[in-house]
This record gives sequence, structure tokens and C-alpha cells, in this order.
Amino acid sequence: MEKLVITGGHRLSGDIPISGAKNSALPILIATLLAGGEHRIANLPDLVDVSDTLSLLGRIGCPSLVSGDTLRLNTERIAFHEAPYDVVRRMRASVLVLGPLLARHGEALVSLPGGCAIGVRPIDQHLKGLEALGATFELTGGYIHGKAPNGLRGAEIHLDMPTVTGAENIIMAATLAEGTTVIHNCAREPEIEDLARFLNTLGARVEGAGTSTVTVHGVARLTPASRPYRIMPDRIEAGTYLCAGAVTKGEVRVTGVEPSHLSALIGKLEEAGCEVEVGGDWVRVTGAEQLRPFSVRTAPYPGFPTDMQAQLMVLAILASGTSTLEETIFENRFMHAAELTRMGADIETRGNLATVRGRPALSGATVMASDLRASAALVIAGLAAEGLTQVLRIYHLDRGYENLVGKLRHVGAHIGRVSDREQDLQRLHLAAML
Ligand code: EPZ
Repeated sequence: MEKLVITGGHRLSGDIPISGAKNSALPILIATLLAGGEHRIANLPDLVDVSDTLSLLGRIGCPSLVSGDTLRLNTERIAFHEAPYDVVRRMRASVLVLGPLLARHGEALVSLPGGCAIGVRPIDQHLKGLEALGATFELTGGYIHGKAPNGLRGAEIHLDMPTVTGAENIIMAATLAEGTTVIHNCAREPEIEDLARFLNTLGARVEGAGTSTVTVHGVARLTPASRPYRIMPDRIEAGTYLCAGAVTKGEVRVTGVEPSHLSALIGKLEEAGCEVEVGGDWVRVTGAEQLRPFSVRTAPYPGFPTDMQAQLMVLAILASGTSTLEETIFENRFMHAAELTRMGADIETRGNLATVRGRPALSGATVMASDLRASAALVIAGLAAEGLTQVLRIYHLDRGYENLVGKLRHVGAHIGRVSDREQDLQRLHLAAML
């Protein structure tokens, strides 16, 4: 196991380049299954979730190769149509293979993802939409066995809630359906727009992505684009580093971003007393000497993103008053609260509402990461805290943050990554010295 070791209290200052978006990369890589041939994808982030997706595609019969900053992926042949439990258990986004495999291959066997740390996370809407397109499903042994032997047909679909990967699964399947599909109450996240842009480079006809009504005119076949497709920047990675700048009273500029994707967070940073400047492809935050309390309610895009709730909570902890954070998307997304309390935070959670009474400072402690964004919040807290913080189980972080230690060090953070072996050697060295 590895851990992060952070000495807090240092103002962060400088530019942080932002990587490609994890939640764009995963559906786009899987969407390549819709079109046989060689695809080229650029600006892929170097993340565990991306390598897990590539190994899943490899098991399906689609090998990939990195050449420079471009990935080459060959989807000529689909040898298997299964996403096994050991893969889906680790990365629930693997359920995105359902739509493309049913559309191109007519069959898919996908392990039910099960819940995860932040909630039950059912996929009923995915199945509802795919059934509307003509697929049939059986649940056997924890696996969803989907079939569409006679192809898919366009349909009018009303989703019960704006699900991101649910919309992505249905849109991908609809690209090869016969006729037109209209999806109502569709999620509007930028990652869905990025996926639609990619699908249209393959010859698909997806309209309205980014709005709550998406129309897909089915086509007979899709073919790989002639040029590499560049993944859009990661708005959650960018927001995470802006929060780090804010709580260390520093000045951090995230570069290579789409500022319009960050407007809900920018509003909250300003409400908390930070100064925010916006450029064409950058956003700079200057942390306030004294953060102000605020209230926030997570919501589907363009509302405040649930994936930024944990990170924003650290600003609330250091504000000069009482803040409230309401989590409306997932039922169990306050696990960071208990760990932050160990660093001196005063947080009371009741159901999906967290009430945070501001404190003058946090103190370093050894804390345990529980899920991707909670881990990021613990790192941000460690950067602001007085003294030493150790964050354990940092494999969660490796899923969604490329080169986090390097990027933070570049702007002045005192942070390092220690493996078990190094820890043992340090202990031996200390023991020898005593
Ligand atoms: C995507 O998850 C993101 N993951 C999540 O990011 C993000 O938190 C979430 O959207 C919300 O923005 C990827 O894109 C890979 P949902 P997803 O379906 O699609 C309920 C991160 O940290 N629901 O939009 O799984 C569900 O329980 C991750 O990067 C159903 O009830 O989320 C939840 O309450 C975490 N039935 C709500 O909808 C369904 O069939 C939104 O879930 C589908 C969803």
C-alpha cells in the first residue's frame, strides 16, 4: 500500500495544467466498439480507470497501443461480449459496454456493478432505455445478459432522472438503431457533449447533447475518424486544484480548461470570499485571507457538481461561520466528514445535509481515503492543515487524478508519496538511530 505525506501551511502559487477528463475518456474509449477499425484518441489522462478500460477492451478483443500522446485502439474484431465481475466491481463505468455491444454485436454479458462507497447506484434507467430500443435482458448470477439479435430500433424515451452514464449508454446504442431516438430528461453534463462530438466524428448523427432533449438519427454503420479525437479537459480535476489554492490562501491558475464548465464552482469560490479571474482557457483563484461561510446544494449540470462537494467542504471548514452542504445526487457521499473531523473540523451530518461550523485552522492527522473525491478533499485539507498529514489508501486517488503529487509540488506543496517498502526502511533507519 502507499500513502501520501503532506506538510501543510504552505501557500500554493503558480499554474497547474489540467489533463483530459476521466468521465469523458471512459465513455469515448468504450464508444469505439461501435465502429470497427483503428481509432486514435489524444489527451487521454494517465489514470487507473483509463488503463482498466483499455484492459477491458483488450479482453473483448480490441488491442490498444500508446504512440506519443496518442492512443491507437483497434476495434476491428469483437471476440467476446463480456464485462466480468472483477472488472465492473472495480470500475462501474464498465456498464457502458452494454449499449455499444448490443448495437454492434447483438449481445452483451455484463456483471451488475453493485453499489459502491457513495451509494447503491442502480442501472435501471440504462436498462429501461435499452429495452425501449428493442434489447431484452435476463439477470442471471449477478450478470445482466442482454440480447438484440434483430438489431435495435429508434424510440421515444423519457428518463426518470438525468443519469449521466445512463444517457451515454442509450445514446451510444441509438447511433446504430434503425430510425430516430429522442431522449427526454437527459443529463446535460459536458462529458455527454464530448461523447456526442466523438460519435459524430464516426458518422453518427447525435443532436442536442448538452440539453435535456437529445435526438439520435440511427445510421447503418460507423467508421473510425481519420484524425485523432482530443478528449476535453477535466473540470473536476480543475475544480479540485482551485479549491487547494483557495484553502492555502494561495494563487493557483488552472490552464487548458473550459471555464464555462466551472461556472457553478466559480460562483461558490467567490461567495466564499475568493477572487477569481477567468481567461480563454484558464481560471485563476486567489484565496481569501479569511474565507466566508456559504450554502451549497449539489445538482445535475449546470448545477453545482456532486463530484466537487467533498472538496468544497474544506473551504467551509475554514470559513468564519456556519455553512451548509446538501448532497442531492448520492445517498452516502459524506464519508470524508468523519476523517476531516479527525483533523479538527466541526461537521454535523444529518441525512443528505452537512452543517459545518468554521474553525480557525485544521491540524494534520493520519486519515483514510474512502472514495475518489473524498480522497481529494483529504489532500486539500492536508495542504491547509498545520503539521503533518498522512493520507492512506491512495489507490482511490490514482483512479481520477493524473500526477497529483507532481502537479501540487509544482505550485509549492510539500507532498510526497511513500510506499510500504520505503516506510519499512525509514522505520529500520529510525530504529538503528535510537
Ligand atoms: C457519473 O456517474 C459520473 N461517473 C460520476 O462521477 C458522477 O458523480 C455522476 O455521474 C453524477 O454527476 C462517470 O461519468 C464515469 P448518474 P453515474 O447515473 O452516471 C441515480 C467521479 O467521482 N440513478 O448520473 O453513475 C443514481 O443512483 C464519479 O468521477 C438511478 O437511480 O451517475 C444517482 O442517485 C463518481 N438509476 C443519480 O441517478 C440509474 O439507472 C445520478 O447518477 C442511473 C442512475
